[in-house]
Amino acid sequence: MCGIVGYIGKKRAVPILLEGMRKLEYRGYDSAGIAVRGADGNIAVVKACGKLANLEARVEQGAPLEGGCGVGHTRWATHGEPTEANAHPHRSMRGAVTVVHNGILENYREMREELRAKGYTFLSDTDTEVAADFLEDLLLQGLSPLRAISRFMHTARGSYALAILFEGHGTIFLARKDSPLVVGKGEGEMFIASDVPAFLSRTKEFYCMGNMQMAEVSAEGAAFYDAEGVPASCERILETGDGAAAEKEGFEHFMIKEIGEEPRAVENTLHAYLKDGKPDFSEIGLTGEFLRADEVVAVACGSAYHAAVVFQYVAEKLARVPVRTELASEFRYRDPILKKNTLVVAVSQSGETADTLAALREAKARGAKTVAVVNVRGSSAAREADFPLYTCAGPEIAVATTKAYGAQLAAGYLLALGMAHAWGRLSDSELSRYTEELLALPAKMESVLSRAEEVRTFAKAHASVRDVFMIGRGIDYAVCLEGALKLKEVAYVHTEAYAAGELKHGAISLIENGVLVVGVLTQSGVAAKTRSNLEETKARGGKAVTVSFAEEGEEGGFLLPPVEELFAASLSVLPLQLFAYYVGVERGLDTDKPRNLAKSVTVE
Ligand code: F6R
Repeated sequence: MCGIVGYIGKKRAVPILLEGMRKLEYRGYDSAGIAVRGADGNIAVVKACGKLANLEARVEQGAPLEGGCGVGHTRWATHGEPTEANAHPHRSMRGAVTVVHNGILENYREMREELRAKGYTFLSDTDTEVAADFLEDLLLQGLSPLRAISRFMHTARGSYALAILFEGHGTIFLARKDSPLVVGKGEGEMFIASDVPAFLSRTKEFYCMGNMQMAEVSAEGAAFYDAEGVPASCERILETGDGAAAEKEGFEHFMIKEIGEEPRAVENTLHAYLKDGKPDFSEIGLTGEFLRADEVVAVACGSAYHAAVVFQYVAEKLARVPVRTELASEFRYRDPILKKNTLVVAVSQSGETADTLAALREAKARGAKTVAVVNVRGSSAAREADFPLYTCAGPEIAVATTKAYGAQLAAGYLLALGMAHAWGRLSDSELSRYTEELLALPAKMESVLSRAEEVRTFAKAHASVRDVFMIGRGIDYAVCLEGALKLKEVAYVHTEAYAAGELKHGAISLIENGVLVVGVLTQSGVAAKTRSNLEETKARGGKAVTVSFAEEGEEGGFLLPPVEELFAASLSVLPLQLFAYYVGVERGLDTDKPRNLAKSVTVE
């Protein structure tokens, strides 16, 4: 969702804040703002609607903002339209408190009414302004900043990452509940961010604030507290990346750069958990005892859910154990039935998705053991799950996921093989054949990507398409779900993924001249059937195109190199990701920051 940054040190804060915000702009981009404390202690606020460039222009035109302490925010609107008044930072009525916020305060209306009764008036429609006034009211009652924040944490419901400047205090205060916040340590300077990439080029040492923690950050360091104000410890991580992943490095968009990084993401993920030719999760404590679960439930949202669907097909086939995939947003509220020995697998790139985290907590509360297949180290899902199984995709910046999805597929294959091995369902030779196939995947993915031009040409010719269907069966259907989401997200094309056999049960009525029907045909047992379904759409005016191995291909379709069918999703998704990207580019869209979306959905 929104991006938060902060800086305190001897340097001028403004360029550092803007640099961090540029790196985090993928988190939200409908408005932006900064607040800087000057040498005289006064706090100046500058805001602008739209992308960060508008704020940068405004900062440049205005009076120079000196001062080595400030906070910044890129917004993804939750409460109130993306206007300047609603942009962060928000100040309290008397100016004693300045706040940037990520999350949603669910009871802000009640809080606002109580403040109104005390004479407070409001300039914005946001929940955040209420937080600023609430804190100011407590300061006026004589509470210290920490005690005021503590009271806030016991009053506010919902989620928040808050960075707060108090008038008369030279430090930055933080509070966190269900929304990520990290503190980076430099030499005589400290950095604050909702996500590590913001300041990876400036420091490698980060403290990941725990849930219901507060902090006070000065140029020399940070002191962490629990919600009662008792000093607390905070997990420290040393990042190894150099921040290059957060740079475009000459590519036009992060999305195409990250699609190109997908083979590497898969390779790194495979190598992290393959030891002596066998999946081995002992490093994270996930031993045979847990892999021999009677049932597995995978919970996730969006693309991560689609990766989980592939996992379901592969794991059931290999391990012969029932696997259920559930949308995290549904799972959390439907009183799910879990067996005694159910393993719950939460899949999430960010590890901060509100619904996935809630599903993970629900599973834990019901006594299930939990695995988090997660990309961001130190994220909430990674810390809260019993077994954090990291995907090694590196930072993903484009809002639409590509390489992290690819890495999630790889993690799913490993987990499926691990389960099959633990149950004794595979002979040693079968296991080594599968692992060899896995290790060959990155090179095959490279060979698919080397033909991106074919997809670009096709995308150019079909850039004005209005309706697309993507059809397949089994794993192919799971890939269609992802391909369709990509095309919707980054090219704004109405696309439906359909299990090929379902088309006739209603949606075929939508097929007419001009509808593009993409058939994914990699599963030999069902490809001929999907082929027939494609013919049915052609007979009704649809234009059919295929992604397949040589024998099933439509003329002009995209041919994949041979691969073990169970792992075909890793190849077949690539032309679909490329297609979405190139159609988006042809339509002149910013594929990295699609409208209305945000990376890391930390609200329900
Ligand atoms: C689609 C996309 C989203 C995410 C979803 C879950 O391109 O990126 O659908 O997959 O919001 O996010 P994570 O994986 O961070 O839990």
